[in-house]
Amino acid sequence: MASTTAPASVLGLGLMGTALASALIKAGHPTTVWNRTRSKTGPLVAQGATPADTAREAITANELVIVCLTTNDSVRSLLEPEAEALAGRTVVNLTNGTPGQARELADWAAAHGITYIDGGIMAVPQMIATPAAYILYSGTDEAAFEAHRPTLAALADTKWVGKDPGLAALYDLSLLTGMYGTAMGVAQAFALIGSEGIPPLEFAPLLTEWVVAMAHGNIAGAAEGLATGQHLTDVSNLAMNKAAFPNFTSAYEAQGLRTDLFAPLQDLLDRAVEQGHGEDGFSRLTLLLKKD
Ligand SMILES: NC(=O)c1ccc[n+]([C@@H]2O[C@H](COP(=O)([O-])OP(=O)(O)OC[C@H]3O[C@@H](n4cnc5c(N)ncnc54)[C@H](OP(=O)(O)O)[C@@H]3O)[C@@H](O)[C@H]2O)c1
Repeated sequence: MASTTAPASVLGLGLMGTALASALIKAGHPTTVWNRTRSKTGPLVAQGATPADTAREAITANELVIVCLTTNDSVRSLLEPEAEALAGRTVVNLTNGTPGQARELADWAAAHGITYIDGGIMAVPQMIATPAAYILYSGTDEAAFEAHRPTLAALADTKWVGKDPGLAALYDLSLLTGMYGTAMGVAQAFALIGSEGIPPLEFAPLLTEWVVAMAHGNIAGAAEGLATGQHLTDVSNLAMNKAAFPNFTSAYEAQGLRTDLFAPLQDLLDRAVEQGHGEDGFSRLTLLLKKD
């Protein structure tokens, strides 16, 4: 098992990579840093990091190599030429990506004797190393993850989600899907209330209270319906929502707003009712999102 101050290298010092490296340094881990644009190493070196001139230098400095770049395409283009240097080391890739990309990177790593752990960061940089942050991890080598867990714990709470390397990305994208759905609703709500000049700061507390209260019931209800296969509801059925929804889209039109974000929900509700699910609750909609 890694000591509580085991060393690590961080490749990629954007907003997130810088926060990760800084957290390692503050927790006492000797940290080597590399970034394509070298000037970004400056603030971390001031905190005690060792700068590397090349990615290879950072890779060969430590057994644990944490990578956080913009996309997994950039990760591949950076790591592929370094396969030999990476052999026998552990790559923890915290770049946002798809389950398929994570599985491909894991296969590539395994073919070159590299231990690969994929991760999904559930935090913004300012939350790193605070109790509010956690990072999802998955990979074929759980023992390697456990060995590095004390070091990774300096970044955020660690949540192991399984031996399929794609699982961390799957959980990550699923959680972010919930976030983006809320962001879309919030954007449309402010556009609608703002169309009559209601100040956003006046409306915000009402919106927060409402969205938070509804989220609890909606998530619990959807999970219960999907787990039991019982979608009938006495709360808010799809036929009622289908009938009410034109009020939303026509109000958006009348207030000079676009309907693109929410028009697809009318299609989904129409389809649900056409297929005989009018008495069901929202949990039924999940089943209608599968392609035929
Ligand atoms: N920021 C967040 O709130 C947040 C939250 C969760 C997850 N994430 C994920 O964390 C990852 C990094 O996000 P970020 O906010 O740190 O982004 P960022 O500030 O834009 O930094 C991107 C980093 O990637 C490097 N990079 C891009 N293409 C490269 C290439 N071809 N070769 C080498 N380095 C390359 C950049 O190097 P240069 O400095 O040279 O351009 C920079 O270090 C993303 O996958 C993001 O989705 C971010």
